[in-house]
Amino acid sequence: MDTAKCIESEYGLACGGASAIKILQDPTGQLKLGVGATVWDAAFVLSKYIEKQVKLGSLDLSGKTVLELGSGTGVVGLSVALIEPTAKVILSDKQELLPLLQHNVDLNNAAANTSVQCIDWTAPAGIATHPDYILVSDGIWVTDIHEPLANTLGKLAGPQTKVLMTYESRRFEDEAKFMALWGNRFRFHDIKPADQDEMWQSEDIFLFEGALKN
Ligand SMILES: C[S@@+](CC[C@H](N)C(=O)[O-])C[C@H]1O[C@@H](n2cnc3c(N)ncnc32)[C@H](O)[C@@H]1O
Repeated sequence: MDTAKCIESEYGLACGGASAIKILQDPTGQLKLGVGATVWDAAFVLSKYIEKQVKLGSLDLSGKTVLELGSGTGVVGLSVALIEPTAKVILSDKQELLPLLQHNVDLNNAAANTSVQCIDWTAPAGIATHPDYILVSDGIWVTDIHEPLANTLGKLAGPQTKVLMTYESRRFEDEAKFMALWGNRFRFHDIKPADQDEMWQSEDIFLFEGALKN
């Protein structure tokens, strides 16, 4: 991977073993990896929400299996891996993103509890066990992946799995259609700004928790 024009950024973490997370991203598109090669704002909202809830003791990730779908650069999943070293984290995306994801795992010395796997929503491979948590940050920005993503969530979630999903609103009509699709098999509720990180929230970024319907 030729990273000559990539940039390495550092983001603070306020709990867990590490004090910062390092992320290599490709703002000029030289790696030709598409939209996943940069960090999207919704990723910070989800990471910081998780960090806040762990710090408050309201979210216990110790020993939990956490799968991130459409990880991109891996900010969300890697935050979990650094905040809770006993969590088993799987970062996933399309095949072409995996070298960048692995690079960011190594950059944070997170290989002990973090693995990288190809999960393409258009042909999702199965995984060994249902994860305790599935994380999705900004996975519904275009409509053609709505159905594949909803199907992938339905396939990978088990009865105990909780889904934490965030997205930045761009076209409410389209997002409502995804939520209706997701709602066929999942019940979900929005996470209010008061429960999100005080600073890392935005009026156009929405956060939801969901689980399979009984
Ligand atoms: C808008 S980016 C968000 C990246 C990252 N989650 C973030 O918030 O910074 C959408 C991500 O979904 C991934 N993606 C798009 N289509 C996909 C598919 N069919 N299967 C798996 N991942 C896909 C992209 O590669 C990209 O990483």
